[in-house]
Amino acid sequence: MRSTIYAIGLGPGDPELLTVKARRLLREVQVIFVPNRDDHESLARKILADLGSGAEVRDMPFRMSKSREENLERWRQHAQTLAETARGGQTVAFVTEGDPMLYSTFVHVYPLLAQSYPDVEVEIVPGVSSVTAGAAAAHVPLVEGNDRAAIVPATGEVLHALATFDTIVILKVSMALEAVLKALNTTGRTDDAIYVERVGWPQQRIVHDVTTLRKQTLDYFGQMIVTRR
Ligand SMILES: C[S@@+](CC[C@H](N)C(=O)[O-])C[C@H]1O[C@@H](n2cnc3c(N)ncnc32)[C@H](O)[C@@H]1O
Repeated sequence: MRSTIYAIGLGPGDPELLTVKARRLLREVQVIFVPNRDDHESLARKILADLGSGAEVRDMPFRMSKSREENLERWRQHAQTLAETARGGQTVAFVTEGDPMLYSTFVHVYPLLAQSYPDVEVEIVPGVSSVTAGAAAAHVPLVEGNDRAAIVPATGEVLHALATFDTIVILKVSMALEAVLKALNTTGRTDDAIYVERVGWPQQRIVHDVTTLRKQTLDYFGQMIVTRR
């Protein structure tokens, strides 16, 4: 039988938004790798703690360097660790917050795994993304009919997205709040925006007047949903 690595999306944080498949696999596997960045806490670890899995949980550091080569080298090492653990006969999971295919650490490692370890099977288990969980929490339909939507990081082309798309979900708002507020103002879309933070957690908050966020230090787990209302 081929060795398998399960890349599992844990959802946005509400334990009830973990899929049935994720729950089963996390209880079955022997080793769970948890990506760990030191610029924000790991929600994944908390979700796993609530689940009470008996697996060995190992941290996998994903601190980003400015050097593309250094990052690539780290991701190569992680791909090797995952593949060798699975080849060694242990059942392995790699978990991500939300969905594994959306701005997650897994998207860095996956191509290297597929390229260098074709004998190891990778099964990707989707999770509820914070994008759809955020829209649900805020009671904001994202798109309908011929609407077009974009998902962008706050550090990316926010102004262009706001001017071009009907709906824009801006992730990582804490990293560039002032720039996001300025772009909303420039495009006349401030009143279209809702800020949602820590969706699915006891600390969840939803802010309808985003101008009140100015000068606040925001939580990393926050996003802006901009729709034509
Ligand atoms: C690196 S991205 C990961 C996205 C994740 N893979 C997903 O599918 O939701 C991290 C960003 O997602 C958003 N995010 C993740 N979890 C969230 C939550 N529980 N509530 C609000 N936003 C969240 C925030 O914008 C955060 O900065």
